[in-house]
Amino acid sequence: MTASHYVPRPRKLLPQWMLSFTDRVMDYYTKRYLHCDPVILQRPPEPQEGHKYLLYAHVPFCKTLCSYCTFHRFLFKEWKAREYFVNLRREMDYVHSLGYTFHSMYVGGGTTTILEDELIKTLEYAKKLFPTIKEISCETDPQIITTPAFRNLKGLVDRMSIGVQSFNDDILKLSERYEKFGSGAEIFERLQYAQELFPTCNIDMMFGFRGQNLDILHDDMEKIFKLNPRQVTTYPLMVTSQTKKSVKNVIAAPGNELADQYRVILDTLGSHYRQLTSWTFGRTNDEGFDEYVVDYDEYLGVGSGAFSFLNDSLYVNTFSLRRYGERIAAGHTGVERKRTFDHHAIAQYRLMLGLFSHRLSRKYFRDVHGINVDRYLFKEMMGLRLAGAIQDDPNDPDRIVVTDAGKFLGLVMMKAFYSAMDNVRAELRAPLREEDM
Ligand SMILES: C[S@@+](CC[C@H](N)C(=O)[O-])C[C@H]1O[C@@H](n2cnc3c(N)ncnc32)[C@H](O)[C@@H]1O
Ligand code: SF4
Repeated sequence: MTASHYVPRPRKLLPQWMLSFTDRVMDYYTKRYLHCDPVILQRPPEPQEGHKYLLYAHVPFCKTLCSYCTFHRFLFKEWKAREYFVNLRREMDYVHSLGYTFHSMYVGGGTTTILEDELIKTLEYAKKLFPTIKEISCETDPQIITTPAFRNLKGLVDRMSIGVQSFNDDILKLSERYEKFGSGAEIFERLQYAQELFPTCNIDMMFGFRGQNLDILHDDMEKIFKLNPRQVTTYPLMVTSQTKKSVKNVIAAPGNELADQYRVILDTLGSHYRQLTSWTFGRTNDEGFDEYVVDYDEYLGVGSGAFSFLNDSLYVNTFSLRRYGERIAAGHTGVERKRTFDHHAIAQYRLMLGLFSHRLSRKYFRDVHGINVDRYLFKEMMGLRLAGAIQDDPNDPDRIVVTDAGKFLGLVMMKAFYSAMDNVRAELRAPLREEDM
């Protein structure tokens, strides 16, 4: 099949009414649960015996800001970023003094490699404080990867995630990345070089851009095959209250094209890679990926705008760089918001993640949450069955099989959930003034 003749299999993944219904259900639940109360937290909760935690560190700086991006980031100023990295290391000291240990570290951005020397210092410091860290993941853009300093990350970073989005020049121009990061052909060449530096390279792609027809998407996937990275993530374009004006009806495609685009991804990547989640594909089953929330029920975030989930509560660090610096200097955490969830809400959240990661297990719900998932979440399980999203495994009574329709439903739900989280970010960033950035 060539790029110009891509014909999707006619089978619809899910009817449009079901997608609209899912969006409404997600809207109800995210509005109900995803708002956080102000709190000044002197100490986060202490680590619990037998619990496994991931350390998340946020680097909120980029040299240019993309209009569709919903992450917490500011325009790069070197002195601010250097000061920030010092605070990040101080916050890690504080977390260490509470007795936390970690198995993995995820550094997210922004552009985490914006000051390689500071990043290296921070990663080495994290490894010294928490020697149990076995894997470090970082995010970067496709411009930085050929700089000489970037090579110094070799041996320290296990997984580098690189934002490409598309190799098509029209899509790169539409998303304003062509001028910033170069043409599709240039990016393709640079990626070949970067892939040799790290055990795992993940390439971030996006779909749902206006004009990104099935042929373009198929062509993008063919380029991916040529590069053959260890991992690929295909994000649907998410729109939030903050980006609505610049993205919806401007660079975003109408929502009803999503299912056909996802079909292309399943037909292409799905046949070459193992599917790790609804939007992540890997060469093997056993690898870390961007959605660390799937592998780690609990994680602790350091840095401005970082989230933590500890015990039954979500904590959010301040989005103001100024207040972050002041709080760390005073020997406190950066936390300014908190939300505690009841047992039922946490079980629903884990069910959504199970669907999204295609790892639904009755044993997990029994052992970790002390529930019989079929009874405790009867309505939710019944809905998923009726939608054709899940089936019982005839050979393993504990395993619940997620169908292709279920994978797509998992993607639609996570998209809605992440968009709602982005709305929380947008709300907390809205009051920031010049002196906070
Ligand atoms: C935080 S960015 C870091 C990567 C790097 N700064 C870059 O842009 O190349 C991580 C990834 O999030 C994805 N992303 C950003 N905004 C998004 C949006 N509105 N919807 C879906 N994915 C998005 C992109 O695929 C991006 O590569
Ligand atoms: S997409 Fe990447 S480079 Fe663009 S603003 Fe977001 S984090 Fe920064």
